Amino acid sequence: MSIKRFLGAILCSALMIVPMAGCTKKEEKASKAPETQATESAKTPETQSGEKYKIGVSMPTKTLQRWNQDGDYMKAELEAAGFEVDLQYGANDVATQLSQIENMINSGCKVLVIAAIEGSSLGSVLDMAEAKGIPVIAYDRLLMDSDTVDYYATFDNYMVGTIQGNYIVDTLDLKNAAGPFNIEITAGDPGDNNAQFFYNGAMDVLKPYIESGKLNVVSGQKDFTEVATSEWSTETAQSRAESILSSFYASGTNLDAWLCSNDSTATGVVNALAANYTGKYPIITGQDCDITNVKNMLADKQAMSVFKDTRTLAKQVVKMVSQIVKNETVDVNDTKTYDNRKKVVPTFLCEPVFADKNNYKEILIDSGYYTEDKLK
Ligand code: BGC
Repeated sequence: MSIKRFLGAILCSALMIVPMAGCTKKEEKASKAPETQATESAKTPETQSGEKYKIGVSMPTKTLQRWNQDGDYMKAELEAAGFEVDLQYGANDVATQLSQIENMINSGCKVLVIAAIEGSSLGSVLDMAEAKGIPVIAYDRLLMDSDTVDYYATFDNYMVGTIQGNYIVDTLDLKNAAGPFNIEITAGDPGDNNAQFFYNGAMDVLKPYIESGKLNVVSGQKDFTEVATSEWSTETAQSRAESILSSFYASGTNLDAWLCSNDSTATGVVNALAANYTGKYPIITGQDCDITNVKNMLADKQAMSVFKDTRTLAKQVVKMVSQIVKNETVDVNDTKTYDNRKKVVPTFLCEPVFADKNNYKEILIDSGYYTEDKLK
């Protein structure tokens, strides 16, 4: 187990119980981590030469607002906790992310925090981390097909979907209204394990209405593979929405709702509607509360977004990092849900909430997430 090996290395370097040279891999593996917990106040360990521990933070892309915020918060929180930070963005290119993580490993990072571009593609560098005893935390997106992932911190991804589905149910009053209503569906990147959770959460809520005919998916496209959006791309979501609108809604059919798994895809749908649809404006869901999308909410172009406070996630992950290096028990609150096909990864789930035009002030402004002028 990489954690055990890592703790073995800490015992050797930070506590200096045995000389560093004595820490061969074999001995590290054999050296059991002490069962006792260090106190909360234990100081963040430093290297033998008194330098700060370096933590590698690998983010997928700078093109979406949220990852910039995640990166900024992670860096600030880690530094405040006494760590040095190597923060890199992978430009949505798996090869770039692989080489950035390899550099982090070779330059002495003690823990890796990774938000993967493609959850299954990082096996080679995860093996390198394992070989060096470097613990790995999957950030927001689960790292798949590897038993080297030690922890996972994210928002409750299934709940994100149920919030979106329930918003549509409530707003169309599906429990009482006769309907039928027309709906279309846009989901996320098939390489991102979260995308399936969002889709499943929403579809579990909406499926009974689709099956009873109260909700009609006019295009007929409802399976995940049909509605997925590679790389969560706004342009891809837009061109699929354009083709659906011109094929199925051009003759004046009304569209009542468009389930979008996140804000970048919702923006694509909003753009497509602007040029290709003149009927009653549909309810559009989203996720992230990106500035563009909150502005669209205020302009009645997007009904809601799911708010995932990235400050909360960053704080939780920094706590995990600190607990790992101090050899404390790591806080998790879910040990069943996140199976990456090699193991069930111990997870800390943060709670998402919905935001719309009516509550955005309380959720986004009063909490200090945005200042009002950013939304003008
Ligand atoms: C995140 C979402 C985000 C999407 C696109 C997902 O993994 O959980 O918050 O909208 O990626 O970046």
